[in-house]
Amino acid sequence: MRKQSMLVATAIIGLSTIFSPLADSATAEDRTGSNWTREHVSKIELNEQNTAPIINADELEKLDDDYHTWDTWPLKNKDGSVATVNGYKIIFALSAPSDVLPGKVHDIAEIRYFYSKNGKDWVSGGPVFEEGDALGSRQWAGSAMIDENNQIHFFYTATGREGEEPLTYEQRFAKASADVVTSKNGVSFDNWSDHQIILEADGEYYQTKEQGDQGDIAYAFRDPEFFKDPKSGEEYIIFEGNSSGAPADRSCLPEHSGSPEFAEHHEVPEGSVLFNGSIGIAKVTNDDYTEFELLPPLLEANCVNQELERPHIIVKGNQYYLFTDTHFDKFAPGITGPEGLYGFVSDELFGDYEPLNGSGLVIANPEENPFQAYSWLVLPNGTVISFVHFTDIGDLTIGDIGHQPEEFQFDHFGGMPAPSLKIALNQDRSRIVTELGQGVIK
Ligand code: FRU
Repeated sequence: MRKQSMLVATAIIGLSTIFSPLADSATAEDRTGSNWTREHVSKIELNEQNTAPIINADELEKLDDDYHTWDTWPLKNKDGSVATVNGYKIIFALSAPSDVLPGKVHDIAEIRYFYSKNGKDWVSGGPVFEEGDALGSRQWAGSAMIDENNQIHFFYTATGREGEEPLTYEQRFAKASADVVTSKNGVSFDNWSDHQIILEADGEYYQTKEQGDQGDIAYAFRDPEFFKDPKSGEEYIIFEGNSSGAPADRSCLPEHSGSPEFAEHHEVPEGSVLFNGSIGIAKVTNDDYTEFELLPPLLEANCVNQELERPHIIVKGNQYYLFTDTHFDKFAPGITGPEGLYGFVSDELFGDYEPLNGSGLVIANPEENPFQAYSWLVLPNGTVISFVHFTDIGDLTIGDIGHQPEEFQFDHFGGMPAPSLKIALNQDRSRIVTELGQGVIK
């Protein structure tokens, strides 16, 4: 008898952990996020499963000859699947005119869109927003979701303020909604709502620009990515942040190094404290997607890595796969990793995220062409899109490129979609299965 009621109790607890939205948010505030540690990073090794094929940029084409494009994202349904609106797939990309030097594109980024019937031949639709409407002195990456009423909700990073001089690196999240209009001639957007600032860093969970300005090397509060948790039905924004506090308020702790056995013998060089990348999360609290509750980060890379860019989640089976991109030069002193896509897995949205493959590395650029692609985004079916960054630059690193003659910079910059890749995920392992065509979204 007793045994039976215990079993029933376990079953109820099990179910509520899996399905109750309350369980999710109650644990969200109390929990401590996961750490990507120096020990994990020390296990990074390039192999056949994680090394991308070499890109031959001469065989590839720009989405629009007149524009460089880089960070790209498709219009998605609420459940994260790629949307098809009356037969059209739609992608959005950061853009700048083709005659702008690669190092300057982030200062004037504008979001443009492209549409396609077959998911591989893209037609340029022009700028997404009406002139003068977008917030910020320029717009950085975000995400777009279409709801049941054919309304799109567009989340983006408003960087700086309109008309500012000089440019600042303030970053806030903005939202605007519109109707999608399709015809045999293509796709457009109509009835834009006002653009609204929906989230700013709080200084408690996420560093404010003012805190970062007290000695840090870079700042991030950007790349809002819509995510609906299929288990709880709750909606969230996942984003790139920095762990809060000014550098003087932070320190490198053994848990940032890794296990006690590793930490005991591992030296953390001075300056590592300036590396405070984090993956943040905020819960949607109204129907208009304008009010949010900031929650503690899902993952932090304190004393490990400075920029966990364009984070996003896909759910496979019972597991949450959290992906992010980072650069070779964003790892803290004493550890190193390639320009790549990194991933983490957990059984719960607010659970313990373990790095995939032991180290986190999912896709690396090949050693022969270490800066060939960037800004990977994993779609729910395992297709990974990215853009061509710098190819065939010999022994130069990314930081050297701005010092080369302009012609060299233009010749070696891609500014266009890379060949998509297909990855397979199996529990805490991943592998690259094959290369698909350029910019293909299946
Ligand atoms: C990644 C990234 C994003 C940012 C954008 C700015 O490539 O750094 O985090 O939104 O580029 O251009």
